[in-house]
Parts: sequence; C-alpha cells; structure tokens
Amino acid sequence: MLKLRIIVVACAVCASVFATAQEPVKPDDAAQYRQSLMNIIGWNLRPLRAMAKGDQPFDAAAFAKHSARIANTSDQLLEGFPKGSDAARDTRAKADIWANWDDFQAKLKDFDTQAKLLVDVSKANDETKSKEQLKNLTQTCKACHNKYEAKR
Ligand code: HEC
Repeated sequence: MLKLRIIVVACAVCASVFATAQEPVKPDDAAQYRQSLMNIIGWNLRPLRAMAKGDQPFDAAAFAKHSARIANTSDQLLEGFPKGSDAARDTRAKADIWANWDDFQAKLKDFDTQAKLLVDVSKANDETKSKEQLKNLTQTCKACHNKYEAKR
C-alpha cells in the first residue's frame, strides 16, 4: 500500500514537471512579459534622463540604483520573445525579429553590455562619465526600436 502511494505521488510530481516543460508559452503572455520589462526599463530611464538634462540634480546613488534596475532586466528579455509571439493581439514587435534572430540577439547583447557598463560607471560617482555612458545605452534602445518595434 505504501509502495503504491509512493508511486502515485511520484507520478503526480513527474506529470506536473512534464506539463510545465511542455506547455507552450502563449503569444499574449509573452508580449505582456516583454512589455512589462520594457516599461520597467522606461520607468527607470526617466530619472536618469532628467539628471542628464539637468532637470533634476545629479544624485550618484539614485543614478546607480536606476542603472542597476535597468541592467537587471537584460537577462530576462530574451525569454519575452519566444518564436511565434508576433501573433500576440497587442504587440508592436515586428515579425522581422524572428526572421533576423541573430541580429536581434546581437542588439540585445549590445543593450546588456552598455547597461552593465552604465552600472560600473555609475558606481564610480563620476557625473560626466555617467551622462556619457547613458547616451551609449539609449543608442542601443533606438537601434533596436528603429528596426524591430512598429511605430505607435
Ligand atoms: C533588442 C531590442 C530592444 C532593445 C535593446 C530595447 N527594446 Fe524596448 N522594445 C523592443 C520591442 C520589440 C518592443 C515592442 C514589444 C511589444 O510590443 O511586444 C519594445 C517596446 C518598448 C516600450 C513599450 C512597452 C509597451 O508597454 O508597449 C518601451 C517603453 C521600451 N521598449 C523602452 C526601451 C528602452 C528605454 C530601451 C533602452 C534602455 C529599450 N526599450 C531597449 C525592443 C527593444
């Protein structure tokens, strides 16, 4: 009886693991996930831009905090772009992403590199360098959006 119970429990566990592994990601869910990450990026970019423009006084600690949040999204972004998720109902991701997958990944890598550099620079508490590096980062946003995000 005990053996049977163990087998039943083991099968239930293995079935649930199997189900998660095999369940395809719904295009709408993927679009929501990547848009959420993009909005986190946008939210944290706002104070950085304001500081760079002089609309807000430069605050090294705040600059470092928002930079770190942006960099933290980068290892999750790729998950938000599974194949076929251009079929989502509400998305501006172009099908070109999946037709040029290597290039898209390279653009994501550029973003990752520049975001991590921004974190490093911001820790050094150097206002001029922080602002310069912010420009390098925002260029990676533009490079990708120009090619792979449909116009609003
Ligand atoms: C490698 C490509 C890539 C990079 C790099 C990138 N984005 Fe995006 N971004 C996209 C795509 C594609 C979409 C459209 C997603 C969708 O609608 O499903 C998007 C959408 C957005 C949106 C709109 C989200 C919404 O709710 O519709 C914002 C805001 C945004 N990006 C900000 C940024 C900022 C700021 C950066 C740089 C710091 C950045 N992105 C870098 C590809 C990129």
